[in-house]
Amino acid sequence: MRILFATPELSPWVKTGGLGDVAAALPRALSALGADVRILVPAYPGLLAAFPERSFVTEFQHPGGRLYGARLEYTETADGLKLWMIDCPAYYARVGMPYQDEHGRDWPDNYLRFGLLSRTAAWLASRESTLPWQPDILHCNDWQSALAPAYLRYTLHGAAATLVTIHNLAFQGIFPASTVAELGMPPESFHIDGVEYYGSLSFLKAGLQTADWITTVSPNYAREIQSPEYGFGLDGLLRHRSARLSGILNGIDTATRDPAADAYIRCRYDAAHLECKIENKRSLQARLGLALDERAPLLGVVSRLTAQKGLDLLAAIADDLVDCGAQLVLLGAGEHAFQDGFLDLAHRHPRRIAAVIGYDDGLARQIEAGSDIFLMPSRFEPCGLGQMYAMRYGTVPVVRATGGLADTVVDASPRAIAESRATGFVFAEASAPALMQAIRRAIEVWHDAPRWRRLQEAGMRQDFGWAASARRYLELYGSIAAGAGAPPARVVPIKPGPAGRRRARH
Ligand code: ADP
Ligand code: GLC
Repeated sequence: MRILFATPELSPWVKTGGLGDVAAALPRALSALGADVRILVPAYPGLLAAFPERSFVTEFQHPGGRLYGARLEYTETADGLKLWMIDCPAYYARVGMPYQDEHGRDWPDNYLRFGLLSRTAAWLASRESTLPWQPDILHCNDWQSALAPAYLRYTLHGAAATLVTIHNLAFQGIFPASTVAELGMPPESFHIDGVEYYGSLSFLKAGLQTADWITTVSPNYAREIQSPEYGFGLDGLLRHRSARLSGILNGIDTATRDPAADAYIRCRYDAAHLECKIENKRSLQARLGLALDERAPLLGVVSRLTAQKGLDLLAAIADDLVDCGAQLVLLGAGEHAFQDGFLDLAHRHPRRIAAVIGYDDGLARQIEAGSDIFLMPSRFEPCGLGQMYAMRYGTVPVVRATGGLADTVVDASPRAIAESRATGFVFAEASAPALMQAIRRAIEVWHDAPRWRRLQEAGMRQDFGWAASARRYLELYGSIAAGAGAPPARVVPIKPGPAGRRRARH
């Protein structure tokens, strides 16, 4: 099985969140099962610097619009992952994050930058490709590559079967109608059955409409997004495509996320040596200037600071947490209002609350290892990796019952604890009191060391590795490839509700 995996992020070189981790780990897991995988990714400066030795594959122009031509270059990671990089300095040689400049503003030509990723993916998966390596499956990830199946339908002759994975429905890649021609999409594609979305062009809608199959990154999220509450305006389309929509839970890379081998943490440990965890707590408290107090339950957060993550609920109860003797450490970057709010809290409670604004993989791991409790009060969460990293490090998560959080954390009811099944604390309502109540429950059990240890051990025993999910992807690839060549099922489109007017931010 030959798989072309198109992605805008690839950890550790280019990452804004979990997609980067998945894009690095899933292809490795698929390769371990014998699949022949190539990752297609823009040649950002970080990647070019990390891989100075590259071989030239081909050069191409994309006719019909104003997409720049580019070079395709090949390289391999030290462990044999095969990368195809799209080298187009005019689009990708920029300082800043993949989607935004250093001031957090979206690049104005993102439609061209990711139009090029999508169009190149489509060409490589088409009969027009002149390369000897031809994929059976084109696996697209999020809006940035989701225009590829539409390119295959409207501008090329499809050879590979197509799959679009939704990592986050909140980001849709919506641009003015004038971009259709610039992207080299023919006018007939600008239709409700094609790339059109309320008079604009939507990359994600186009992909969901035209791909052979759609997956989400947890089974629960696949159900949730078919409802108006979680559908971001696309629930109608997703309901109509529900026969070709399924959820496959993300895994984590258990080799690089391992408390027994993590070079970033002060003291390494496994489930049989959980007492070493306290060293990591002390060292985290010291590093961040918190009171060196073992008896204070330490709550950790590592997160993008956006409305998705429900951190407004946490900010609302931060003073109460301090009053009940807890400490809080937050690492995150994102919206200024959140950044300022947490910095202000840290300023008011310097020995009890620490807020670090920025992106720091080492500190993220120290928080996962050194905290007692890990918080993810998300309003929605397609999968979530943080809670799985926390459980692997014996840090007990408190999560809202949504998306993949509900699929991965077993609530600590007295019975579930007694049966050693409980792995965390789950609350339903997206409200500050509900979060506070869940944290209080967690702190109560934390004071009872033997029961707490059961929770920690149960979390550390979970198999969050990629093997099972990678096998599911392979089965799915096999079944959609068997049907490849046939046109995708005709979908009766319905106009989504007003929530669909929301704009994707990047
Ligand atoms: P999302 O993809 O929505 O951001 P996930 O839980 O799937 O959420 O993945 C987030 C990933 O990004 C995790 O690996 C987390 O540790 C990491 N991360 C988020 N913010 C930061 C940060 N400020 N510094 C370091 N790592 C971060
Ligand atoms: C997205 C989601 C997150 C998921 C990640 C990887 O960024 O917000 O829940 O874990 O993608 O699939």
